Amino acid sequence: MPNSAEVKVNGQSYELPVIEGTEQETAIDISAFRAQTGVITIDPGFKNTGSTKSAITFLDGETGILRYRGYPIEQLADQSSFLEVSYLLIYGDLPSPTELAEFQGRITQHTLVHEDFKKILDGFPSTAHPMGVLSSLVTALTAFYPQSLDPNRSWEEVNLSIIRIIAKMPTFAAWSYKNQMGHPVMYPNNNLDYCSNFLHLMFGLPSTEYEVNPIVAKALDKLLILHADHEQNCSASTVRIVGSSQASLYASLSAGINALWGPLHGGANQAVIEMLENIKVDGGDTKKWMAKAKDKNDPFRLMGFGHRVYKNFDPRARIIKKAADEVLEALGVVDPVLDIAKGLEQEALEDQYFVDRKLYPNVDFYSGIIYRALGIPTEMFTVMFALGRLPGWIAQWKEMRENKEPIGRPRQIYTGENERDYKPLSAR
Ligand code: CMC
Repeated sequence: MPNSAEVKVNGQSYELPVIEGTEQETAIDISAFRAQTGVITIDPGFKNTGSTKSAITFLDGETGILRYRGYPIEQLADQSSFLEVSYLLIYGDLPSPTELAEFQGRITQHTLVHEDFKKILDGFPSTAHPMGVLSSLVTALTAFYPQSLDPNRSWEEVNLSIIRIIAKMPTFAAWSYKNQMGHPVMYPNNNLDYCSNFLHLMFGLPSTEYEVNPIVAKALDKLLILHADHEQNCSASTVRIVGSSQASLYASLSAGINALWGPLHGGANQAVIEMLENIKVDGGDTKKWMAKAKDKNDPFRLMGFGHRVYKNFDPRARIIKKAADEVLEALGVVDPVLDIAKGLEQEALEDQYFVDRKLYPNVDFYSGIIYRALGIPTEMFTVMFALGRLPGWIAQWKEMRENKEPIGRPRQIYTGENERDYKPLSAR
């Protein structure tokens, strides 16, 4: 074999193919390894396991590169729009002006949700976390569009399901907040662009005309672009693996929302702000909290620091940090939590523990600060992440279907009891 790897198992050598991606990343193909050798490979957390070949997003964690379909994130964040990036991720290339206008038009056409969704929303207490409400409403789409249940239907029908969820997601996201506030829900305003409409749905009230601040809408659009995809992370892998059982698009996306919820993934943005506020209330002693983060007997971690893949810097964090400064200045917001964040960042960057482990601020370290400045409440931060990640999940699901990937089904090494005889209750 021109490029292969040799592995010895129980004294016998096996040759395994090596595959190469378009950015020269290489992988040993072990798909036939068990059949050949009788042994499996093990890799908890998939730290070194590629689950698929993908043409959507390239990232190089060592050099801090992130590109969607080949386009650098810096250029997209600066010059594109969230809906254009959504088109790029899902359909594979930048749209022509006509294609983009048509895409936007179709999305605008489907923003309204069925009135009965309000009844579902009414069933949630106001204590419900908006992420739980959001994932439930997305699952509920299967009930209103039963034809979406079968992912094997025609491309036109699958595409309609895609358009529908992009169109309705801002409504669901905003309604999850309205439920928490006990406020009446708002209907979409189709005269507004995607992010302005979301802000109207979130902050509008039937009694008062809500005026969208263009600075806020633009900043939000940028944040959504930065969150739009991140290759095979926890939630994208969840979407792919749920979809691999041929569960519907909406079921797969709802699973992705739940995977995103955890504080080690998308929930980190909420956790960062809560952490910074705790530090502030505690007197602002960042050194004390740095020591806690390094103490192996203390479960505390510096939220917003570290990343499975980025081991140098997170390019999204750089863009967000700059955007945070600009937005806060433009809106005239003075946030003491920002000073704590900057202080913590400085200390961590100079601290041997963080340097040795290559722990740098990630996308979530500064995103919460911007969301706060934009008036988004803390419990909604992860919902914002989900709104941004939606096109990425759709693109991952679509690619998994087009690649005709087999059902995701890992193996294990069993470490439990060997066979033993059942004892009736009376004998125990
Ligand atoms: N604070 C303190 N120590 C840390 C942190 C942190 N935030 N992150 C990692 N470490 C330490 C960890 O204790 C371990 O130390 P040691 O080698 O001495 O045992 C070492 O660094 C490696 O950590 P790991 O947990 O093995 O790394 P991982 O790749 O499994 O985890 C991570 C990555 C993002 C889950 C982790 O860095 C973390 O928990 N960070 C805080 C949560 C966070 O900000 N998550 C958002 C990620 S970005 C948004 C997204 O894309 O989802």
